[in-house]
Amino acid sequence: MKILSVVGARPQFVKLAPIDRAAKAAGVEHVIVHTGQHYDPMLSDVFFSELGISAPDVHLGVGSGSHGVQTGSMLAQLDAVFDSHAPDWVLVYGDTNSTVAAALSAVKLHIPVAHLEAGLRSFNRRMPEEHNRVLTDHAADILLAPTDVAMGHLANEGLAERSVLVGDVMTDVLYATRDELTGERSALSSELGLEPGSFQVATIHRAENTDDAGRLRQIVEALARLPQPTVLLAHPRLVARAAEAGIELEQGNLKVHRPLAYRDLIAAVLESGHVVTDSGGLQKEAFLLRVPCTTVRTETEWVETVDLGWNVLVSDPSRLTEVVERARPADTEATPYGDGHAGHRVIEVLTRR
Ligand code: UD1
Repeated sequence: MKILSVVGARPQFVKLAPIDRAAKAAGVEHVIVHTGQHYDPMLSDVFFSELGISAPDVHLGVGSGSHGVQTGSMLAQLDAVFDSHAPDWVLVYGDTNSTVAAALSAVKLHIPVAHLEAGLRSFNRRMPEEHNRVLTDHAADILLAPTDVAMGHLANEGLAERSVLVGDVMTDVLYATRDELTGERSALSSELGLEPGSFQVATIHRAENTDDAGRLRQIVEALARLPQPTVLLAHPRLVARAAEAGIELEQGNLKVHRPLAYRDLIAAVLESGHVVTDSGGLQKEAFLLRVPCTTVRTETEWVETVDLGWNVLVSDPSRLTEVVERARPADTEATPYGDGHAGHRVIEVLTRR
């Protein structure tokens, strides 16, 4: 039994960690192909070393580019990689350009494809992630869904027979990491001299928020006006777009910091009073840590976080202060994202088939 995982962007390395661990535990051969979509050490290497993931067997080194150029460059190289490794399964993760490229390449070579985190939908056709996840779901042979809602979307698209509910693998890593934290001050709050509970952690990187200079300016100015300090963990895409548009990120109550390694991020979120983000993963992590979150988007794929009251969507940046200042939501014992053992379930499902 040989599983070949294709990953390329930061959230995919987090998802890869529990899969790699579960594959090793089950004695399954696991080949890792890194497309090179993310290449900065803080977006890539640090996750492999910190989360104990085996080094990639193959690195395609595609780097940045327009969607077509980046995806095409992966496609051009993957045929030969899949031919030489001849896996039983190609496993693809989430919704990035690396996901859709690997799914397309494998399906054309008649190699069974499994899609992890299948069935998520924003129903916003302007998002590159939405094209990537819909196309991947319809190409894949088995759809590994994280939630009941995702299973429902797959059924609505006629994909029920290929779908299996496994839970969310990011929950596996999050619970394990949280349990390892010993309660000491986070590196972020110590470095910046912030009082626990009295600052926000923020991330903004999505194209719909960064690529329009006017919108980016409004978001940055709204973050800077929040009454308590906000630490903006700046993704390189944000830094590049802000520089092009002449927008100063460090202003008002806004402090800019480089992206954090996973453990430092979880420690910082746990200590913060609130998260402001447009990341899918971080909305969910905030909920799982029971830290209130405000999401700067018109919709979310992780609707459970909103339904349970822990996440509020804001598309108009001028409403940010009012929404961030809202009362803390009611406690909940709900576990819509599974029990923290999704990785083992994925390996079990793939081995059984
Ligand atoms: C990608 C995914 C997105 C995911 C995000 C996680 C797609 C279409 N988007 O977005 O779904 O949420 O990863 O972070 O696949 N850059 C660097 N160094 C890097 C990587 C990128 O400087 O290591 C800069 C470059 O200017 C690049 C820009 O960031 O052009 C965008 O990178 P790209 O990989 O195209 O998309 P992300 O915004 O990271």
